[in-house]
Amino acid sequence: MDANLKIPTHVGIIMDGNGRWATLRGKKRSYGHNAGSNNVDRIVTHAFNRGVKTLTLYAFSSENWARPKEEVDELMRLLKVYFKKFIKKVLKNKIRLFVMGDMSKLSPDIVKIIEEDMEATKHLTDHVLNIAINYGSRSEIVMAVNKLLAEGKEVTEQGISENLYTAEFGEPDLIIRTGGELRLSNFMMYQGAYSELYFTDVLWPDFDEGELDKALSSFSERKRRFGKI
Ligand code: IPE
Ligand code: IPE
Ligand code: MG
Repeated sequence: MDANLKIPTHVGIIMDGNGRWATLRGKKRSYGHNAGSNNVDRIVTHAFNRGVKTLTLYAFSSENWARPKEEVDELMRLLKVYFKKFIKKVLKNKIRLFVMGDMSKLSPDIVKIIEEDMEATKHLTDHVLNIAINYGSRSEIVMAVNKLLAEGKEVTEQGISENLYTAEFGEPDLIIRTGGELRLSNFMMYQGAYSELYFTDVLWPDFDEGELDKALSSFSERKRRFGKI
């Protein structure tokens, strides 16, 4: 890769396409979720090696509860496994873990592991891995506005930004969606107002280091005008 590449500070990824990846192989959707989950760390490692500071991964949307219970249970099981292992890896990797979304609907055992991981890594500043679980952008915006109202504050753009889950991490410079769909599916709609968007047909389990480099190269060529000329 070109050493003069402009690297985005904050990247968001909508990790889509696990189900189709499995179907293409004649397997059950859970097989794709396993493969997808195994793909997370190589992308996290590569993104941070390339100089990305904050990586936000969309793992489970507030709408995904509407899937069959068997599939939801499998996704929750995989998340739990991931967070359980996370803490052992993190000590050498200096990654701060943050989870954004409505935790109240998750099972208490997952919440406990997530809270322990977040607490144990909150002092780490090199990189932030922000994972969106039971996340929906609309409810996040409503929550932020309600917080301002409850505090008797005026609702302003800055006030909303400061009360989103991402308050500390800022807005994504680049949002990547794998799996071929051309939509945001309720992901970071407020923060993404001026994000560069990158869509690829590559299904999430196949999205490897080279594919991430393609997205980073594309970002590097973009002219971000923010409404100016
Ligand atoms: C993973 O991909 C994203 C999650 C919601 C966990 P999907 O499960 O949506 O896979 P497709 O889009 O059906 O292929
Ligand atoms: C978006 O993917 C959510 C995650 C990747 C976690 P979906 O598969 O749920 O999105 P839609 O239903 O195709 O919009
Ligand atoms: Mg999907």
